[in-house]
Amino acid sequence: MKKKSWLSCFLIICFSLHTYPSLSALTTISSNQSLSGDQTLVSKDGNFELGFFNKGNSSKYYIGMWYKKISLKTYVWVANRDDPVSDKSASKLAISDGNLVLLDQSKNLVWSTNLSSNSSNSVFAVLLDTGNIILSNRPNASASDALWQSFDFPSDTWLPGGKIKLDKITKKPQYLTSWKNSEDPATGLFSLELDPNGTNSYLILWNKTQQYWTSGSWNGQIFSLVPEMRSNYIYNFNFENNANESYFTYSLYSNSIISRFVMDVSGQIKQLTWLESTQQWNLFWSQPRGQCQVYAFCGAFGSCNEISKPSCNCLNGYEPKSQSDWDLGDYSKGCVKTNKFQCEVSPNPSNGAKDRFLTKSNLALPEQAQPVVEAGLSEQCESTCLSNCSCTAYAYNSSGCFIWRGELLNLQQLSQDDSNGQTLFLKLAASEFHDSKSNKGTTIGIVGGAVGGIVILLVLVLILVIRRRKRLSGARTSVEGSLIAFAYRDLQNATKNFSEKLGGGGFGSVFKGILPDSSVIAVKKLESISQGEKQFRTEVSTIGTVQHVNLVRLRGFCSEGDKRLLVYDYMPNGSLDSHLFQNSKVLDWKVRFQIALGIARGLTYLHEKCRDCIIHCDVKPENILIDSEFCPKVADFGLAKLVGRDFSRVLTTMRGTRGYLAPEWISGVAITAKADVYSYGMMLFELVSGRRNSDPSGDGQIRFFPTWAANTVHQGGNVISLLDSRLDGNADVEEIIRIIKIAAWCVQDDETHRPSMGQVVQILEGVLDVALPPIPRSLQAFIDDHEEIVFFTDSNSTHNSQVKTSVSTASSQAKSIISSTSTTSP
Ligand SMILES: *[C@@H]1O[C@H](CO)[C@@H](O)[C@H](O)[C@H]1NC(C)=O
Ligand SMILES: *[C@@H]1O[C@H](CO)[C@@H](O)[C@H](O)[C@H]1NC(C)=O
Ligand SMILES: *[C@@H]1O[C@H](CO)[C@@H](O)[C@H](O)[C@H]1NC(C)=O
Ligand SMILES: *[C@@H]1O[C@H](CO)[C@@H](O)[C@H](O)[C@H]1NC(C)=O
Ligand SMILES: *[C@@H]1O[C@H](CO)[C@@H](O)[C@H](O)[C@H]1NC(C)=O
Ligand SMILES: *[C@@H]1O[C@H](CO)[C@@H](O)[C@H](O)[C@H]1NC(C)=O
Ligand SMILES: *[C@@H]1O[C@H](CO)[C@@H](O)[C@H](O)[C@H]1NC(C)=O
Ligand SMILES: *[C@@H]1O[C@H](CO)[C@@H](O)[C@H](O)[C@H]1NC(C)=O
Ligand SMILES: *[C@@H]1O[C@H](CO)[C@@H](O)[C@H](O)[C@H]1NC(C)=O
Ligand SMILES: *[C@@H]1O[C@H](CO)[C@@H](O)[C@H](O)[C@H]1NC(C)=O
Repeated sequence: MKKKSWLSCFLIICFSLHTYPSLSALTTISSNQSLSGDQTLVSKDGNFELGFFNKGNSSKYYIGMWYKKISLKTYVWVANRDDPVSDKSASKLAISDGNLVLLDQSKNLVWSTNLSSNSSNSVFAVLLDTGNIILSNRPNASASDALWQSFDFPSDTWLPGGKIKLDKITKKPQYLTSWKNSEDPATGLFSLELDPNGTNSYLILWNKTQQYWTSGSWNGQIFSLVPEMRSNYIYNFNFENNANESYFTYSLYSNSIISRFVMDVSGQIKQLTWLESTQQWNLFWSQPRGQCQVYAFCGAFGSCNEISKPSCNCLNGYEPKSQSDWDLGDYSKGCVKTNKFQCEVSPNPSNGAKDRFLTKSNLALPEQAQPVVEAGLSEQCESTCLSNCSCTAYAYNSSGCFIWRGELLNLQQLSQDDSNGQTLFLKLAASEFHDSKSNKGTTIGIVGGAVGGIVILLVLVLILVIRRRKRLSGARTSVEGSLIAFAYRDLQNATKNFSEKLGGGGFGSVFKGILPDSSVIAVKKLESISQGEKQFRTEVSTIGTVQHVNLVRLRGFCSEGDKRLLVYDYMPNGSLDSHLFQNSKVLDWKVRFQIALGIARGLTYLHEKCRDCIIHCDVKPENILIDSEFCPKVADFGLAKLVGRDFSRVLTTMRGTRGYLAPEWISGVAITAKADVYSYGMMLFELVSGRRNSDPSGDGQIRFFPTWAANTVHQGGNVISLLDSRLDGNADVEEIIRIIKIAAWCVQDDETHRPSMGQVVQILEGVLDVALPPIPRSLQAFIDDHEEIVFFTDSNSTHNSQVKTSVSTASSQAKSIISSTSTTSP
């Protein structure tokens, strides 16, 4: 309710702000009208607005469409993206000869809808509330009788209802193409298209030629390489395939969500949802996952790094070809040599200066290596490269010598513990060696005997000595509250330099270690921590005070420089996923039930019992550890807060685990403890089945287990058939039913219908009864067997009303699980 009034308040502000320029706002342009200057076209319900815009101080003006109800100006379509006009007052958007046209100040045609048409019929341009501008013979037309529509010519944004199609007759795909950079809507280098070869998969291409990502083909339900679609019930995807064209289109299940796909300037396809609470676009999904997987993202002689910001850096001895583009996040032009190679200046100079090589390790090597067969030794490899002026680098490994001529593309700096890292020897101009100013760090390594180098070396030694002193004095192991503050070096020793990796989670990798007192620990190396030292210590000490038998105990932490580590008790039995999903160890039913109860108790403690309510945000089997008595312990709590209050950041960190994420993560409302309840529910289903919810069932059918289980219980079917087949039916049927009912309650779409973790504990303990849950809409999306569920047979026209029925049943039943206390209290 609060949210509603706030929203209407926001709308009022919005409208009052926009009233003046919008006095002249139209919803249609008819033959005798035109749009100039600050005049805009507004859709009927005010969702979208269309008019001239520019970015920054630029005098380039475009006809664009943007969300009218969103505070952050976001353009979803640009008509003349490659042909800006310079004077928006003298230019006009008008109807001419049955077309919508843009004329510049000299009345030249800049852009047109290019229909060959009859001027005898009057034509109207209508801006629809879907973000589609159409040409039609009627002023009140809809998209179905459009002569032309912008949805057929998208720019970089794919809106709900739009389509990215393939014309099967011309074999021409319709591209979704990125902007050139964040300030320039011109056609960029990255495009999404439907594969012209008819594989029914989407591809992302660089410069419309080089493919670097594919969705995999459509199997009727999902794209094969985008399995996370299975747990997507925000979007309703449809594939159309007829003799003339094939395309996908999607719609949103809820009208209250504002969401879009965009082919981003980063070369990634992104799915973003507007978060009213933070007034920001929340990144929910993007592919390819890694920035460095985008082809040639950093351009020639650029090096890509997933961790650093910005992701691109020029190699040593190179500088951005266009600094202004570089600053705008457009790295495509790459880097150029700062100084010419000696061999380009004069091959045999009198001072004997020679080009040399800089050793760069932990790299993914550039493309198009040329093997040099005759060079059998690394010295020969070096001299081969040195002898040809067009050679820019060489590498030497067990398969022999490789050299690169000309541009180096797709070079990636890997992290130090990445075993795929190789070493590249980069050619540097002889003059680089005298120029110690420009390349401090690297020069040291090569200079060797040079005088300047010795001075720098001395300074370096001094810095090291000072640093070391500081460390010795400041970082001696100390106790802070109940927590031990470890020195980094001690943890390095305890973990044998982080050699035994136990696992990698969303927040960083975990390593096994042994302290001098021979107690075994698990050390988590946190990544992407943005917090400063003081704030980190505060948050950590809060986590340290949270102690419960079903929560993993934090023993200490380390915070030195930019290093942030957490030290936990080691759990010998590993995490729940290994017990559930691997064949070797099978947990019997009693143990599973106790694990369900233990986790619920741990989460209840986090949510209700400790001083500040802690929302875990990442409940999943990987984060449930099992001790030697098979008592479950929830791990990784409190980390969401450490990464920052910006939940979109958290979400980005947890991209891989969407199957457990509650719908409110994208719908833009505040996240509450009920998001954990949802994830817990998803996990309960997996406890019963012993397999991932998203995996196909034993008979090979792709059946979303939660849907199947909820339906079976709903219809009084054979629940034993749901049980992990490895248990041979050895389980208490009543307990299975109870667990599935709880699970179905926990995954209700509306968080107010979900029980609290405290109630879950009581239901599991038998103190509270549980009613038959309605089947959440999120699960309906996965129903394969339409005959089975009469209640939800789904034709588009009736879909909405049925959803409403199920929701209202849900709320009345939600009350009943809370009020009906059973007589069997302990
Ligand atoms: C424009 O033309 C429409 C019909 O085509 C007419 O109803 C309207 O009055 C005209 N408006 C002006 C300003 O001439
Ligand atoms: C735009 O112009 C103003 C005033 O001339 C200047 O302060 C500002 O830095 C400019 N912004 C950009 C993005 O160029
Ligand atoms: C219209 O046709 C012209 C000339 O063939 C072409 O340059 C322009 O891109 C076309 N415009 C659109 C919107 O297709
Ligand atoms: C205009 O319409 C007439 C009949 O309605 C048709 O014969 C003619 O081809 C059309 N002209 C164009 C350019 O489409
Ligand atoms: C559109 O307007 C015409 C008259 O201008 C009317 O006959 C028709 O019913 C209207 N259609 C819709 C869908 O409102
Ligand atoms: C389509 O198939 C042809 C021939 O099999 C192949 O050369 C081409 O690269 C394919 N195109 C794409 C975009 O996959
Ligand atoms: C993209 O391809 C076109 C021709 O297909 C070529 O002229 C252009 O240079 C390419 N762009 C880049 C950045 O390589
Ligand atoms: C394909 O295009 C032809 C000619 O434009 C048209 O007659 C036919 O109805 C179209 N088929 C479909 C399935 O849309
Ligand atoms: C260097 O390599 C290029 C490309 O293979 C070759 O064309 C050129 O002749 C070579 N130059 C010398 C001096 O060997
Ligand atoms: C050696 O490097 C080349 C060039 O990058 C690469 O193709 C090859 O796979 C590498 N060989 C081994 C054994 O790593």
